[in-house]
Amino acid sequence: QRSEAEFVTFSVPSYACQRRTTLNNRNAVLTDALSLLADNAELTGDEGRGVAFRRAAAVLKALPKPVTDATQLRGLPCLGEHSLRVINDILEDGASNEVESTKRSERYKALKVLTGVFGVGVKTADRWIRAGIRDLHGLQDSGPALNRAQQAGLQHYDDLNQPVTKAEADAIAEIVERAVASVSPGAQTTLIGGFRRGKPTGHDVDFLITHPEEGREEGLVPKVVSWLESEGILFYQKTTRNSYLEGKESGPGRPSSSMDRFERCFSIFKLPKEEKRGAGQTHGAACGPEAGHKPWRAVRVDLVVSPVSQFAFALLGWTGSKLFERELRRWAGHEKAMSLSSHALYDNKQRRYLRATSEEEIFAHLGLEFIPPSERNA
Ligand code: CTP
Ligand code: MN
Ligand code: MN
Ligand code: MN
Repeated sequence: QRSEAEFVTFSVPSYACQRRTTLNNRNAVLTDALSLLADNAELTGDEGRGVAFRRAAAVLKALPKPVTDATQLRGLPCLGEHSLRVINDILEDGASNEVESTKRSERYKALKVLTGVFGVGVKTADRWIRAGIRDLHGLQDSGPALNRAQQAGLQHYDDLNQPVTKAEADAIAEIVERAVASVSPGAQTTLIGGFRRGKPTGHDVDFLITHPEEGREEGLVPKVVSWLESEGILFYQKTTRNSYLEGKESGPGRPSSSMDRFERCFSIFKLPKEEKRGAGQTHGAACGPEAGHKPWRAVRVDLVVSPVSQFAFALLGWTGSKLFERELRRWAGHEKAMSLSSHALYDNKQRRYLRATSEEEIFAHLGLEFIPPSERNA
């Protein structure tokens, strides 16, 4: 019989943006289970429940040791009744029935596969499932009208669902830097998203581009896209122009949603395969049928352009993790009466914008200890 004194007890602050969360997750079994339930909740349109599971998982990710006994969790924030039940089941029985049956359910499996197609969101997947489509073959055969993004996504489903490595991200970075330097000398390219947080792999590669002279960044995306297209590097791209100044329903800095208004491009690159460039040999039969045909691999790339005056906010907003960002905005609103977006920080009491030229300054405005990117993996 063990006494409670033998257990490590944990204490963590309640907002993820007050915590240091590295990639060294000592509770992956528990957080994988909670993340799966979060996925399922989001896939079935229950965003609130999804966030609750994500917050619970994030608390466990911040713990310095593996949880071995439920009593260690007493007093921890964000662990609701439902999450605690799942954690308990896993600690006691090695698995949670709810998680296992969700994983096996036809609906979950179908939603996972269909939303795994680039350009397919939860609503589309749900509509297809109700029309009897369960998998990619069903999608190909029954042929609902696919838009351009979805066609590209279906065509390169395997490539796009294979994690992008850091080496591939670096190769893409080199290409993007070359493109940016050619069309706008002096412009700067920064790797953002998961790779900036030190992740070894990602589902895409994200870049933030700016120019030290305010205004010179305008229209940069179409120029970069033309350069990439002339080099035959783009398989797919969708460019959206900056709409920040047009926001009328919500003043700048007070966006109605977390969606920002930067000039951007969601794209699919054709990344030449390393081994195909050097050795003239192909591995033919050893690779899949598709791999044998094309000397490149499809990789999702996001390009975002920000005016230099908003750069720090854009950098902070696009570095993630998604939960960390969400928590930053919640902290700003609930604890500081401020509105944070990827464009600006607005102080609702002082009724003015708070300027910043670095992430450090933004954390300081928010009354938060600075958390470096590698510790924002909530
Ligand atoms: N983001 C955003 N608006 C979007 C899409 C993404 O502000 N329309 C932000 C997200 O909040 C996140 C960052 O961009 O902070 C990167 O998003 P994403 O590439 O989806 O996630 P990663 O953290 O990079 O994870 P992964 O490695 O899977 O790509
Ligand atoms: Mn998708
Ligand atoms: Mn990313
Ligand atoms: Mn992205």
